[in-house]
Amino acid sequence: MSPSDIALIGLGVMGQNLALNMARHGFHVAAYNRTTSVTERFLAERLRGETIEGTSTLGELANRLSRPRKLILMVKAGGAVDAVVGDLRPHLSTGDILIDGGNSHYRDTARREEELAGEGLRFLGAGISGGEEGALLGPSIMPGGPKEAYDAVSGIFEAIAARGPDGSPCVAYLGPKGAGHYVKMVHNGIEYAMMQLLAETYDLLRRGLGIPTAELASLFAEWNKGELASFLVEITAGVLSRSDPEAGLPLVEVILDEAEQKGTGRWTVQDALDLGVAIPTIGAAVEARILSSMKEERAAASKVMPGSARRTRRSEARIEDARNALFCGFVCAYAQGMALLRTASEAYGYGINLAEVARIWRAGCIIRASLLDDIRSAFAVAPTLRNLLVAGPIREQWAAREPGWRKTARLMLEAGLPAPATTASLAYFDAYRSERLPANLIQGLRDYFGAHTYRRVDRPGTFHTDWTESGSGRV
Ligand code: 6PG
Repeated sequence: MSPSDIALIGLGVMGQNLALNMARHGFHVAAYNRTTSVTERFLAERLRGETIEGTSTLGELANRLSRPRKLILMVKAGGAVDAVVGDLRPHLSTGDILIDGGNSHYRDTARREEELAGEGLRFLGAGISGGEEGALLGPSIMPGGPKEAYDAVSGIFEAIAARGPDGSPCVAYLGPKGAGHYVKMVHNGIEYAMMQLLAETYDLLRRGLGIPTAELASLFAEWNKGELASFLVEITAGVLSRSDPEAGLPLVEVILDEAEQKGTGRWTVQDALDLGVAIPTIGAAVEARILSSMKEERAAASKVMPGSARRTRRSEARIEDARNALFCGFVCAYAQGMALLRTASEAYGYGINLAEVARIWRAGCIIRASLLDDIRSAFAVAPTLRNLLVAGPIREQWAAREPGWRKTARLMLEAGLPAPATTASLAYFDAYRSERLPANLIQGLRDYFGAHTYRRVDRPGTFHTDWTESGSGRV
């Protein structure tokens, strides 16, 4: 029996599909799952002529592999990754390559890489996006770690990745240490933001303007044909079109309104705060999920605080405004994600190429969207671009879309529909394009209560005022 090219450890649905994807591209795959019956069932039920060898111990798995060994781990982020790595270590030898394809925290990835390097083992952290279908038919792959280890597996990654509109594979080496998992984390932050923007738009159209759900399904499907074309808009139409025969209602209306989260969105916000990067749309999306989970409190409050909301009638103009607002919100989400990646890349020494990030997000992943073509060209033309909002092709969009964005935000507020991501996006846009902000008052207040000093617009230096007296003095 010829040796296997690569091992897949962890046969959850993502792991199974990734193994099948590799096998369908001609690679000999060895598979292992801690519970052997899962491996047996996978091989019995899902193989259609692909070469996948099941193994029941890690030793057997390691023996099956050609050298240097290449192993992909598809196990739950956190302690499970350390446990599998620990169990594998005695079976590996110098130069072998371990790839963590889960949603691990980038700091864990950097730590594991360092620990294993001490033993001559190479560790890559590869974010893999696209859900079950992406894993099978072509995901977007975001790898980071030692470059020579990437080069040794790039052929496999390139074969199994999704293809962008230009036919290029949606994978690129992103940088050392945890760079790959960092990019995947930010991908998920943007994913949270886009989903929240979609939810707010749906809420305005459904509850605010009273448009029936079935009609909304067609509307989102229509929007998906234009500049909003994206996987998330497409599946919004899919979710809205499904009815529940038992309830006799659109299925979405009987789904409990509590959004869960596994943590990658929260990590994005935590790291952005540490780095001093403003990502308010992503932050609003994470907080909106937290608020949604307070179902009991919300239900109780709704009984005693009716509010003074005012609903309006539907009109073609209002629907068009909502479309423009959604587009602007999407741009803000990508702009904030890219700004975070730029700062993190400098702070952590990743050297991330943002045009490449946009390129590999164009297919396979959850945030794929036609807008990413413009984002890719913006960063290809100006790699040091500070913010996507001011990039040529993006900047040209504002004049036509900004009025509708403002009207939509106003409608949401007047209707009493919470719109944290839509309004945070608009505030981000307004703050970013404001030469002068009211931070002068904040500086005055800080100096008043804490003698924190301030600078002036008309002369250099640091100043402090004795606010109880008159007059100020240079410090
Ligand atoms: C992807 C997704 C995926 C993520 C889910 C769930 O790119 O395929 O980002 O990796 O796990 O979207 O995330 P939450 O449970 O945090 O919503």
